[in-house]
Amino acid sequence: MEVTITINGEEQKHDVEARTLLVHYIREHAGLTGTNIGCDTSSCGACSVHLNGEAVKSCTLLAAQADGQEVRTIEGMAAADGTLHPMQQAFMENHGLQCGYCTPGMVMAATSLLDENANPTEEEVRLGLEGNLCRCTGYHNIVKSVLAAASA
Ligand code: FES
Ligand code: FES
Repeated sequence: MEVTITINGEEQKHDVEARTLLVHYIREHAGLTGTNIGCDTSSCGACSVHLNGEAVKSCTLLAAQADGQEVRTIEGMAAADGTLHPMQQAFMENHGLQCGYCTPGMVMAATSLLDENANPTEEEVRLGLEGNLCRCTGYHNIVKSVLAAASA
């Protein structure tokens, strides 16, 4: 089946199997490998992207469910001239990025969190990111990064 998805502002059409997960569509059909796959259980959040502006786990949706909709991945966060998104900048400045495996998903979830609550407490950040696991377990600097982005 053919699905048409606007990814990072660019409309893309690809022929996919009906069972294709959105995360596989993004990585294999759209060629955007910044979105990672970390688990088989919908629990790690490494695959988080924005669907119509809201963070979703792209391994829990079919590509067909995003047909006609807008997806933003980590590749779409920086400005066209390469200027980092404030959240990316905050991760860089606060050492939120360790091995980086979880980072794209963390950045997507964190920006969505700040869209809903521009000035969260540390506890609200921790709660808001509880669906995203960091295999490096370096949560302190990730939370610090999100709080820094909130006050930027
Ligand atoms: S790969 Fe989607 S939640 Fe882990
Ligand atoms: S930075 Fe390594 S998984 Fe989070």
